[in-house]
Amino acid sequence: MVHDKISGLLDRMSLEDKIGQLNQICFKDAEQMRYEVRKGRVGSIVLAGTATAGNDEQKKMNFDLLNELQEIALKESPAGIPLIFGRDVIHGHHTVLPIPLALAASFNTELTKAAYRAIAKEAASDGVHWTFAPMLDVSRDPRWGRCIEGFGEDPYLTAKMGEAVIRGFQGENSRKADSIAACAKHYIGYAAVEGGRDYGKAEISEYTLRNNYLLPFKAAVNAEVATVMNSFNEVSGQPVAASRYILHDVLKDELGFDGFIISDWGAVAQLVNQRVAKDRKEAAMLCANAELDMDMADGCYIENLYKLVEEGTVLETTIDKMVYRVLYIKEKFGILDNPYICKCDIDYESSLKLSKECADESVVLLKNNDILPIDKSEKIAIVGNFTHEKRSLLGSWTLDGDVGMVKSIAEAFVDYAGSNNVVLSQSEYLTDEILFHLHKVDTVVIAIGESHRVTGENNCLSKIELPEAQVELIKQIKALGKKVVAVLCFGRPAALEEAEPYMDAVLYAWHSGTFTALSVKDIVYGLINPSGKLPMTMPRNTGQIPIYYNYPAMPRNGMSYYGTGSNYLDCMSTPMYPFGYGLSYTEFEYSDINCEKDDISVDELRRGEKFRISIMIKNIGKYSGKETVQCYISDLYASMTRPLRELKGFKKIFIESGKKEKVIFELGFEELGFYNANTEFNIEPGEFDVYIGKDCTAKSSVRITVV
Ligand code: NOJ
Repeated sequence: MVHDKISGLLDRMSLEDKIGQLNQICFKDAEQMRYEVRKGRVGSIVLAGTATAGNDEQKKMNFDLLNELQEIALKESPAGIPLIFGRDVIHGHHTVLPIPLALAASFNTELTKAAYRAIAKEAASDGVHWTFAPMLDVSRDPRWGRCIEGFGEDPYLTAKMGEAVIRGFQGENSRKADSIAACAKHYIGYAAVEGGRDYGKAEISEYTLRNNYLLPFKAAVNAEVATVMNSFNEVSGQPVAASRYILHDVLKDELGFDGFIISDWGAVAQLVNQRVAKDRKEAAMLCANAELDMDMADGCYIENLYKLVEEGTVLETTIDKMVYRVLYIKEKFGILDNPYICKCDIDYESSLKLSKECADESVVLLKNNDILPIDKSEKIAIVGNFTHEKRSLLGSWTLDGDVGMVKSIAEAFVDYAGSNNVVLSQSEYLTDEILFHLHKVDTVVIAIGESHRVTGENNCLSKIELPEAQVELIKQIKALGKKVVAVLCFGRPAALEEAEPYMDAVLYAWHSGTFTALSVKDIVYGLINPSGKLPMTMPRNTGQIPIYYNYPAMPRNGMSYYGTGSNYLDCMSTPMYPFGYGLSYTEFEYSDINCEKDDISVDELRRGEKFRISIMIKNIGKYSGKETVQCYISDLYASMTRPLRELKGFKKIFIESGKKEKVIFELGFEELGFYNANTEFNIEPGEFDVYIGKDCTAKSSVRITVV
C-alpha cells in the first residue's frame, strides 16, 4: 500500500518536481524561502542559518513561519508535496540533557530512550519533523571538538546508546505527531580525523572501518533509523559523499538501510574543494551516482541534476530511487497526511525530571580519598571559573535550550546548604580575598571547566591539559592544607596528570545540561550516590593520544593493553583513568563467575545459540547504589589481530546496601564474530576469555570455546 502510494506520487511528478524533493535549503530570508517552495524547488528545510549551527549564539527560531511555508508547498507548488523540516536537536530542545558524551557515562539506555522521547515531543511541538542526531562517530581523540556529540570510544556502547536515542526520537509509532525522524551521522569515520582536527583526513583500513566504525550504524539500521548523514572526510582517497561503495553498496545494499541519505551541509559542493570534482556540476553528478539522496544547503543538485539527466550522466531511474526514499520517509512519519505543526502532549515536568536523572547518572566520581560526601553543616568554600557559570553547563549544540532554567554551582550549593555554609569566589588566582575566606574552611570545592565554545564543530584543541592558572590554583589551595574537591566541567576528557595528585576528590561533571549544578550538589552532599562510568579513556597528557582500551594485541608483549606493549619513555603507559571507570560511595563485590556451557559450535551460534555467563554482585558498602556491570571478551587467537578486550554487554542495576544480585550476559554470533579479511562478518572457532567487572580492567574471567 505504501509502495503504491509513493509510486503513484512519483508517476505524477515531473523531473523538476523530483529534483526539488532532493533539495534541502537552509532557513533564510522568508521571502526567498516562500519563492523557492512555491516553485517546487524544495523538499526540505534545515532550520539553521549557518553551516556550524551548534556554534551559533542561541537565537530564537521563528517556528511560526513553518505552517505558512508548508501551506505554500501543499497548495502552490506544482507537486503539492509537504516539506520535511529538520533541526539539530542534538541533546535537548527547550529542556537540555547532558551532552551525549556525558550521557554515555550513564550507561543507561532505558533512561536515555525515555529522555529522548520527552525531547522529541518538545521538538515536534515546535514543528520539527526530523533531527540530525544521534552522532555515532566512535571517537578516540578528545582533541576533536565533536567528541562531545558522540558516545565515546567504544563501538558497542555507541551502538547501544545510539539505538536508545533513535527509539526515543522515533517512538513506537513513527506516524504519531510526537515522533520525529532521527539521523545517524556522520557516516563514516569522521572521528578518525588525523590529530583530532575537524574536517581533516581519516586514514582507515576496511578492517577497522567495519569492525570499529560500522557497528553503530548497523545497529542504527536495525533500529530503523529514518535517515543517515554522510561524513565530510575521505576514506581511502574518496570523499564519503561521492563513495557509491560506502553509501550504496555497504549502507543500502548490505545493511539494508531503507531511509534516505542526507549530505552534511555543503558536502556535495565541497568535492570541488577536495579536488575530486572540477566544478559543482561534476560534484552533483558524483554524489547522485553514489545515491546520496538529499543535498543539504549547497544547491548543487537543484542547479545541475536536470541538465545531468538530459545529458545522460545521471539516469532518471537513479533520481526516482532517491526520491522514492525521501517520499517513503515523509510517508512513514505521517508528514504526507499531517503536514502541519500539531501541538503534542508535552509534560515539561517529566522532561525536567528525566533531564535531572540523566545528569545524576552522567557525573563520574573519579577519585575519593574518603572526603565525599560532605555534611550539609560543614562550612565549605567554592572557587574556580565555573563557580557562577551557567551557559557552558548546557554544552555546545543547544540551539533552543533555556539558560534561564540553569542554576550555577554557586546557586545550587547556597540554596541547599545556606550562604553561611558556602563561601564563594570565582577568581582563578589565589587572591587576598580568597585567602581571607579560605582560612575559615577545611574543604574547598574547586569548580573549573572549559567553555562550550571550545567544544563542538571545528572547535578542536591541540592540548587537553588544564590551563596553568587552574593547576596553580589547585596546587596552592592544597598547599594551604585544605581538602580539595575538584568539580570538572568539560566537554571532553581533560588530561589531569599534573593536577590530579593535588585533588582529594574528583567529580567529572561534564557539560551535563540544565541540571548539571544540581546533580553535582546532590552528589557532593550524598543525596545521590554517583554511578557514572567513563565512556572515553582519560589520558594522562595530550601526548598519549590516541589512547583507548580496545587496542589489539602487541607483537612483543601480547597480553598487555592500553599500549603497554608500546610505551613512551617519558610517560606511564597506563591512562589516568581507564574506559568504564567510575566510583560509587558504596562498594560492589563481584564473585562466582560462571558459564553454563564451556563450548558451542559455530553452527549452533549461527542458529542463535548463545553462551550464558553469570556473575554475582554484592553491595558490601553502606550506601544503596547503581552499578554498571560490564562484560568484555578477549579473543585468544584469530585470523586477524583482535582487540585485547572488547565490550560486549553491560547492565546497570540498583542494589541495596547488603543485598546481592545475579547478572547474566548472553554472547552469541553478533558478539563473538567480526568482519574478516574478506569483509565477511564471521565467527571463527577458538577460545575466548570473558571478563566481567567494574571497568575495562575487570579481573573475573571465564574461558569459553567455539568449536
Ligand atoms: C554541519 C554538521 O556537521 C552537522 O552535524 C549538522 O547536522 C549540520 N551542519 C546541520 O546543522
